[in-house]
Amino acid sequence: MKIAIDGPAGAGKSTIARLVAKRLGLRYLDTGAMYRALTLAALERGVPCTDEEALLRVATSVDLEIVFDEETKGNRVYLDGQDVTDLIRRPEVNAYVSLVSSHKKVRDFIVALQKEIARRGCIVMDGRDIGTVVMPDADWKIFLHASVEERARRRLRELRRNGHDVDLQELAEQIRQRDHFDSTRAISPLRKAEDAVEVDTTHLNIEEVVARVLAIIKGEA
Ligand code: DC
Repeated sequence: MKIAIDGPAGAGKSTIARLVAKRLGLRYLDTGAMYRALTLAALERGVPCTDEEALLRVATSVDLEIVFDEETKGNRVYLDGQDVTDLIRRPEVNAYVSLVSSHKKVRDFIVALQKEIARRGCIVMDGRDIGTVVMPDADWKIFLHASVEERARRRLRELRRNGHDVDLQELAEQIRQRDHFDSTRAISPLRKAEDAVEVDTTHLNIEEVVARVLAIIKGEA
C-alpha cells in the first residue's frame, strides 16, 4: 500500500501523514526533511544555495540518514551521525530550503533516494511531488491545502513550541513567497496530481483531517 500526501507548506502534511501511517501500520517518510537536511549541511559549510554543482557535491558527500521511529512513526534525521531533527526546522533553513530544492541536480539525487525507499514496500510519504513524480503509481493520492492565514498560525505555534519567536504577518508573507516559489519552479513544481483527492484543512482539526483521509482510503468518502 502506497499513499502520497502532497500540499503547500503548513497544510498539515507531516502531522497527518504520520498519524495515517500509524493508524494503518505503515512506514512514513517526510521528504521535506531530506531537502531541509541538505540545506542545513550547505549552510553549515558556507555553500551558496544558488550553486547547483556545489550543492550536489554536498548531497553526495554527506551521510544523510532518515530513521523511522516504529513507535511514533516519526522520522529522526541524522547528518554525518548528528541528530539534526530539530535543527532542520530553524528559520534559516526555512528561508533557504525552497531555493535548494529548486535545482534539478539536487532533486534528481534526492528523488532517486525517495524512489528507492518507496520500492522497499508499503509507505506513506508526504511532500510536494510525491503523487506526480516520486510515487506516480501510489494507491492513494491526497492533496492537502489550507488558507495562508491558517497555515501561518500553525507554523507560528510550531515555532513557538520550539522556542523561536516570529511575527505572524512575516510568517504569512514567507508562506506566500514559498507557495509561489514552490509552485512556479521549472522542475517538478508543487501541483495536485490529476488523480489526487483534495482536502481543505482550513476549518478542520487534526483528528478530523485524519478521519477524512482514512475514509478516502477505505472508499467511504
Ligand atoms: O514540507 P517542508 O516544508 O518540510 O518542505 C521544505 C521544502 O522542501 C519546501 O519549501 C519545498 C521542498 N520540498 C520539495 O520540493 N519536494 C518535496 N517532496 C518536499 C519538500
